[in-house]
Amino acid sequence: MAKDSPDQDTPDHVAIIMDGNGRWAQGRGRPRLFGHHAGARRVKEIVRACKDLDIEYLTVYAFSTENWKRTQSEVAGLMTLFRQYIKREAKALLDEGVCVRFIGDRLRLDKKLQGLMDELEELTKDNTVVNLTIAINYGGRDEVARATHQLALDVAAGKLDATTVNEDTLSSYLDTHVLPDPDLVIRTSGEARISNFLLWQSAYSEYEFVDTLWPDFSRDEFCKVIAKYGARNRRFGAVPA
Ligand code: FPP
Repeated sequence: MAKDSPDQDTPDHVAIIMDGNGRWAQGRGRPRLFGHHAGARRVKEIVRACKDLDIEYLTVYAFSTENWKRTQSEVAGLMTLFRQYIKREAKALLDEGVCVRFIGDRLRLDKKLQGLMDELEELTKDNTVVNLTIAINYGGRDEVARATHQLALDVAAGKLDATTVNEDTLSSYLDTHVLPDPDLVIRTSGEARISNFLLWQSAYSEYEFVDTLWPDFSRDEFCKVIAKYGARNRRFGAVPA
């Protein structure tokens, strides 16, 4: 459902791999979690920028299925940060018209965090200004595997006719089923890889890799990346007109 006309300048949906928090903190002689806290503050600024630029959907990668391999203290610190963020920001998100959703497998998260995520989704579900999707315990392969698992169960239960299964069917089983595909995926910190983010959904996305570490990624730089996107000619596999 990405924009299908190459002359539309502003993306509908921007997805961001927020990388570089650890290096940002280490460069200041501070613990990695200090960088994650600074990174969380940046999310707020970029949500506001989306609102001003008329970007309807923003999806951010906060914790991957691979991030459990980090030290126990960093993982615990991030989980605490997610809980604090939801509690602290809920009212502002509601007041600013932000509809918050979470993607990823939440069953592995602690019950308290799961409860806060459910509550924030419920609280903001009628908002329409910006759709903020936060990926926690998210992995693209894991998402496709979970979707396929459920699809197979539905076929076995007679709820779905296997002969009708196509791309749209699988899309409808993904965590992102209510979102359009991302038009633009941005990764900060100079790394040029996808790291298991929105693998299915980004088939035709434009990519932008910037050297800035996430806590330094300003509204100005975000606006420049969006302007650069506007100059691109997206063809979706077709020949230019
Ligand atoms: C990657 O940087 C960043 C993460 C794994 C965590 C991202 C989390 C946040 C930005 C804060 C929380 C966000 C919300 C919406 C509450 P890294 O630690 O891998 O950086 P490095 O490559 O420099 O080590």
